[in-house]
Amino acid sequence: ATSIPADDRVPDMGKRQLLNLLLLGTISLPSAGMLIPYASFFVPPGTGSAGEGTVAKDAIGNDVIATEWLKTHGPGDRTLTQGLKGDPTYLVVEKDKTLATYGINAVCTHLGCVVPWNAAENKFICPCHGSQYNDQGRVVRGPAPLSLALAHADIDDGKVVFVPWVETDFRTGEAPWWA
Ligand code: FES
Repeated sequence: ATSIPADDRVPDMGKRQLLNLLLLGTISLPSAGMLIPYASFFVPPGTGSAGEGTVAKDAIGNDVIATEWLKTHGPGDRTLTQGLKGDPTYLVVEKDKTLATYGINAVCTHLGCVVPWNAAENKFICPCHGSQYNDQGRVVRGPAPLSLALAHADIDDGKVVFVPWVETDFRTGEAPWWA
C-alpha cells in the first residue's frame, strides 16, 4: 500500500496532458483544416490507383506474381484469374513473353456466361449462344452486342494488379461501355 503514490501520479499527468491537447486542438482547428490540402498533395499519385486496384488471384486464390506466372504461361496464353469485383478476367501473355498491360473480363456481354478461350480458333467463343470475340476480346460475332470489358493489368511490387479501365477502348476507339 505504501508504493501507490508514485503510480498514482500517472493518471493525473495523463489528464493534464489530455486537457492541454484538447486546448491546443481547439486553437489549432482552423490550421488543421488548412493542412488537409497539403496532406493530400503529398500522397503519391500511385496510391490512389492502387487503392481502387485489385491484386489478381490465380485459380487457387493466391496472388499472381508476374515473373512466376510467366514461367508457366507461354506466349499467346490467356488464362483466367480473379479480377476486379471478383470478375473472371483473362491475363494475356504477349508474343514477346511479357504480360499484356490489359486484362480481358470473361463475362459475355450477351447474357453473362463466362467465355472460354479457344486457342485453336484464336478466339473467345461463348458456349451459351455462340458469340465470338477476337484474341483481344473485341466482339466479332453476335448475339453479344459489345466487346468484353477491359481492365488495366499493372505490376505493383511484383504482383499483377487490375485497375479499372476508364479510358478509350483501344480495340474500338470508343468510350468504354463498362465504365
Ligand atoms: Fe454468351 Fe449468350 S451469353 S452468347
